[in-house]
Amino acid sequence: MNSSLSGIVFSKTYGSRIMAKLKVYVTGGSGLVGSRFLELAADRYLLAAPVYPLLNLVKKIDVRRVILEFNPDVVVHFAAFTDVSAAQSQIHDHTGSCWQINVTGTQNLLDALPRQTYFIYISTDMVFPGSVQDPGPYPEDHPACNDPDQLTWYGYTKSVAEKLIPPNSAVIRINYPVRTYFPGKLDFLRKSLDLFDKHQLYPLFTDQQISISDIDTLCRVIDILIKNRYQGILHCASENTGTPYDMVSYVLKKARHVSDVVHGSAIPVNNRYPKYGGLSVKKSEHRLGIKFGSWQQIIDRLVRQGMVI
Ligand SMILES: NC(=O)c1ccc[n+]([C@@H]2O[C@H](COP(=O)([O-])OP(=O)(O)OC[C@H]3O[C@@H](n4cnc5c(N)ncnc54)[C@H](OP(=O)(O)O)[C@@H]3O)[C@@H](O)[C@H]2O)c1
Repeated sequence: MNSSLSGIVFSKTYGSRIMAKLKVYVTGGSGLVGSRFLELAADRYLLAAPVYPLLNLVKKIDVRRVILEFNPDVVVHFAAFTDVSAAQSQIHDHTGSCWQINVTGTQNLLDALPRQTYFIYISTDMVFPGSVQDPGPYPEDHPACNDPDQLTWYGYTKSVAEKLIPPNSAVIRINYPVRTYFPGKLDFLRKSLDLFDKHQLYPLFTDQQISISDIDTLCRVIDILIKNRYQGILHCASENTGTPYDMVSYVLKKARHVSDVVHGSAIPVNNRYPKYGGLSVKKSEHRLGIKFGSWQQIIDRLVRQGMVI
């Protein structure tokens, strides 16, 4: 039975009980992270995930039309311009695609939403500088950086967009999101495996601190947020940080059974990427009632599940 009432679609009847499915609108559903949410959430929600060019976030009129048509209860906003190096070539350019998608696109989406819609914004640890003066891992309440000269341009646009998010919404920060398989885009770990298999693995930084985010755990976090309508900033990442050198050495040991094959290097002096990055997750774990595990445990789980390039 399918009928619609005040934004709730009644999709299944069990005896006299009617199970209501929330209408969840997903942007970025073709991407590395959003596509996994669509896979895992398909049976729980009524999902709409129009992809570009059907939905171009930069076009206010398109956004308004698709939101009006679907009238969502919840929006999970994954879509973004995510190529950090390409974004850097647009630095300070508000007409460039990075600003337009990440800032203008987010504003267009928020402008189109009814006030009662619950909004979840997926953000990044790149809203922090990762510098010696202000190092990570950053707790949830650490202020995001407002200075474009201390961040990558991508990180700055994500930081500006975070500030657009209304109070009755949630921001989930992630970094280096990883999953077992996604043919559309290699993540940090699967890219390293791919390069190793092709004998093209380059030296990895031994002096950078990062954490990684398990995408399946993020999807669980999103479910908890939707259920409880939690507001504010949450982090979803490994409980500890490590260097790219350490993490790739570990995944190669576990997935390819090789040791001592990774070469180390140091971050170039004028590099703008966060050097001492990573997210602290203690407050989020406490609030959500779940444990994210160490980066070693995340890699162990991915390998057990059979990571595929
Ligand atoms: N990947 C990371 O390392 C990382 C780290 C921290 C945080 N994050 C955040 O996590 C979220 C998801 O990242 P991801 O890695 O899954 O990104 P991704 O694989 O690069 O996918 C980006 C998504 O955004 C969509 N998109 C781009 N421009 C659009 C536009 N103008 N209108 C509508 N949709 C548009 C893309 O659609 P098309 O495929 O049709 O272009 C795609 O579905 C982002 O908000 C990102 O900032 C990512």
